[in-house]
Amino acid sequence: MDAELRGKIYQDAKEWILNAGRNIREAINDPLVVETKAHANDLVTEVDRETEYFLVTHIRDTYPTHKVFSEEGYGDDIQSLDGIVWIIDPIDGTMNFVKQRKNFAISIGIFHEGIGEIGFVYDVMSDILYSAKKGEGAYKNDEKLQSLEPNLALGEAILGFNHKWLCQNDVIDEKVVQQLVSNIRGSRAYGSAALKLAYVSEGIIDGYLTMNLAPWDIAGGMILANEVGAVTTNLTGGPVTLLSNDSTVTCHPAIQTELIKDYLEKGIK
Ligand code: IPD
Ligand code: CA
Ligand code: CA
Ligand code: CA
Repeated sequence: MDAELRGKIYQDAKEWILNAGRNIREAINDPLVVETKAHANDLVTEVDRETEYFLVTHIRDTYPTHKVFSEEGYGDDIQSLDGIVWIIDPIDGTMNFVKQRKNFAISIGIFHEGIGEIGFVYDVMSDILYSAKKGEGAYKNDEKLQSLEPNLALGEAILGFNHKWLCQNDVIDEKVVQQLVSNIRGSRAYGSAALKLAYVSEGIIDGYLTMNLAPWDIAGGMILANEVGAVTTNLTGGPVTLLSNDSTVTCHPAIQTELIKDYLEKGIK
């Protein structure tokens, strides 16, 4: 994608994501109708749907040839990343949105022929927009984020996980994870994949691991993280697919090999 087109799409997407966030803030104290999807803890609200509809409508009106891959059903049936594809999570962290009315984000990743070109993660209630254009760095509002420092020891790393990693599960031996957690500096769980990836970009956590997330959970944040020098694979070190659910490890490059070889590969089921 040439820089001029990237710049135009970036400006449009930025305006729409900020407006979508403002709409959510204005209605943040309104009563919510909360429904469940696949299971009792898989929540969705009309705000998730309205936000996705708002974004998809603007994209279709302005860029009718672009495709949209999104969580709540207003997007296209995506079979490939050919052409320009917007991967959207209208609210990442719906449980936080429902319970806390904060700590959730709108996430957008824009890809051209499978290459991440533009990423946004908008922390709506804090009004902090993380954004990146390929090759032009990542920003937190107007502040350019530093590239990651060259060195980091795993023992000094703070990693993002959730509690499921420490319980018996189908993906990885929890004893190996317990070993990992006892050998790193700290762990954090925030309830939003997109925000955790934004925090990796900001350098305030050093990695984020997921067992099984959808493309819209990670697309925007992966582009941000890549722009500051973080690396992303799945749990076995292979490329992450953005067409279906996958595991992910996004981290500082200096800890990637040790994390995967000495821990994840040993624990994977
Ligand atoms: C969820 C969040 C959460 C993660 C869940 C996701 P949603 O997305 O990213 O942090 O642990 O697995 O489904 O449903 O709130 O968009
Ligand atoms: Ca959801
Ligand atoms: Ca999500
Ligand atoms: Ca969502």
